[in-house]
Amino acid sequence: MTIADPSLVLLVGPSGGGKSTFARRSFPTGSVLSSDELRALIAGDPNDQGASAEAFQVLGVLVNGRLRRRLLTVIDATNLRPDSRRRWRALARRYDLPVVAVCFDLPVEDYLAFNRARPERQVEEEVIREQAERMRRAMSDMPDEGFDCLWVLRSPAEVAAAEVELRRA
Ligand SMILES: Nc1ncnc2c1ncn2[C@@H]1O[C@H](COP(=O)(O)OP(=O)(O)OP(=O)(O)O)[C@@H](O)[C@H]1O
Ligand SMILES: [Mg+2]
Repeated sequence: MTIADPSLVLLVGPSGGGKSTFARRSFPTGSVLSSDELRALIAGDPNDQGASAEAFQVLGVLVNGRLRRRLLTVIDATNLRPDSRRRWRALARRYDLPVVAVCFDLPVEDYLAFNRARPERQVEEEVIREQAERMRRAMSDMPDEGFDCLWVLRSPAEVAAAEVELRRA
């Protein structure tokens, strides 16, 4: 997938979809900002949802600072809420930068299987099923939301095979 640099890239998908794994191997270190890592910094626990509001406040400051400097920025969060996607698009627009979404639209069984197999932390099955439902809605809404570019990965094999080529603008 060819991705403009600079741009704002939103990874979109339920927990266990492989967003962080993909981000780590596909984008330069420092360009990826993760809501889990910010929750871990704030609360000592990446799963502490009570730290979400503060984590997203900090995330906003970091993203704004990078975009103002015209630096490629990747938001590693589920991005399943339409209003949070809208907020990120508006921020990129302020700096006249393109907004790209990379969607991890896998069968729910794959999210669950990756989640069960992950060594570091696991999310409750019920939470993932609910996120998968929101992902279905996101996939039908996103084509009309105003992204400059929408990439969709539909299986673990596609996620594993995806290669990013950054194109300097
Ligand atoms: N395509 C893949 N093939 C094999 N294993 C994968 C693949 N994608 C992810 N995994 C494994 O699944 C687990 C979850 O992946 P990852 O942490 O990247 O998901 P995530 O989308 O970032 O989840 P979260 O939203 O909870 O942070 C990891 O243990 C990872 O090694
Ligand atoms: Mg992750």
